[in-house]
Amino acid sequence: MLPTPSPDALAHSQRVTAHLRSLINDAGGWIPFSRYMEAALYAPGLGYYAAGAMKFGAAGDFVTAPEMTPLFGRTLAHAIAPVLAETGGEVLELGAGSGRLAADVLGELARLETLPSRYCILEVSADLRARQQETLARKLPQLTGRVHWLDALPAHFSGVILGNEVLDALPVELVHWTQDGPLARGVIVEGEGFAWQDRPISDPLMGTRADALNLAPNYLSEINLTADALITSLAECLDRGLILMIDYGFSASEYYHPQRHMGTLRAHYRHHALDDPFYLPGLCDLTAHVDFSAVVRAGMAAGLELAGYTSQASFLLNSGLTELLMQTPPTDAATYLPQANAVQRLVSPAEMGELFKVIGLSKGGIAPLAGLVRGDRRHSL
Ligand SMILES: C[S@@+](CC[C@H](N)C(=O)[O-])C[C@H]1O[C@@H](n2cnc3c(N)ncnc32)[C@H](O)[C@@H]1O
Repeated sequence: MLPTPSPDALAHSQRVTAHLRSLINDAGGWIPFSRYMEAALYAPGLGYYAAGAMKFGAAGDFVTAPEMTPLFGRTLAHAIAPVLAETGGEVLELGAGSGRLAADVLGELARLETLPSRYCILEVSADLRARQQETLARKLPQLTGRVHWLDALPAHFSGVILGNEVLDALPVELVHWTQDGPLARGVIVEGEGFAWQDRPISDPLMGTRADALNLAPNYLSEINLTADALITSLAECLDRGLILMIDYGFSASEYYHPQRHMGTLRAHYRHHALDDPFYLPGLCDLTAHVDFSAVVRAGMAAGLELAGYTSQASFLLNSGLTELLMQTPPTDAATYLPQANAVQRLVSPAEMGELFKVIGLSKGGIAPLAGLVRGDRRHSL
């Protein structure tokens, strides 16, 4: 049984629905799914990420690793510290959510005496930017002077670009492979809500990608051209350093496996995963898994090197997660047990350890990261 939204939340969802319907009407009756997803998540003041929904944590819709334990961000700090030392560069975090990851990474970098001169955050949601500012002012008042919110990617950047669960939140195209070839699955208005309608693919880039996948009829899946474009833009601005993306997903052979013929698009509402992306627009997160083979292809085409690809478990364990956990004595059960429990969730193959991957793309000959070298899975991409 799904929790009932409050009257205010329901009224908000009705406003988002009206906005989406007017977008479709203005476009002549049909929009590609990416347009629907983009507006449902990011339309200013309306979209899931752009309005005041709680989103992260126990009271929200889903829990991300930084919300579970500070050990996640602290371990990341240990992983990236050598790159910061090597490049003398800064950190740029994309999509910083509640700001907890930034606070944990910066706090640990301070302890390691590898503080970057600036920790930049690029966040598309004004609502989340305000939440990040509040989190950092509360948790790290002495370091807020180093945190800068950017409105766009800088022209030049050296250091580390980080993104946890950002690629899965980018709007995807839906493709329906049929007897007559691949079609773009888009959204039309129907009754009080929405319905699917397939149309010929008009974007040549998407057509090429869909043809190349060559999937059997009755296969439905996603193609993430927005992720390709983001990786290309990051590659253009990176002079020297590392891009580290953490997310759930697979290589293309697993992503487009015959058994995954319904794709990976899901809505998340109050800790329930739903198949219907039209459910309560504006109150649900919409997400698709990441095709890491496509991410690497985009990166290499833009001049990046593949620095490594591995599971989240392997990355965190080889970057010092256990050692950080052991800094709390197990005899201090009240502190130790919740942390140990979160660590178990981060690394267990049955939870986040296997499904979540870490990919590193670099430029300028960066020394290999311990967390990416051991347990390397580049061969699978
Ligand atoms: C699923 S949340 C993850 C938040 C946070 N990183 C965490 O792990 O808790 C996705 C985040 O990506 C942001 N986002 C989406 N598209 C983005 C883009 N093109 N550039 C930067 N941030 C983006 C969203 O606003 C949101 O903060």
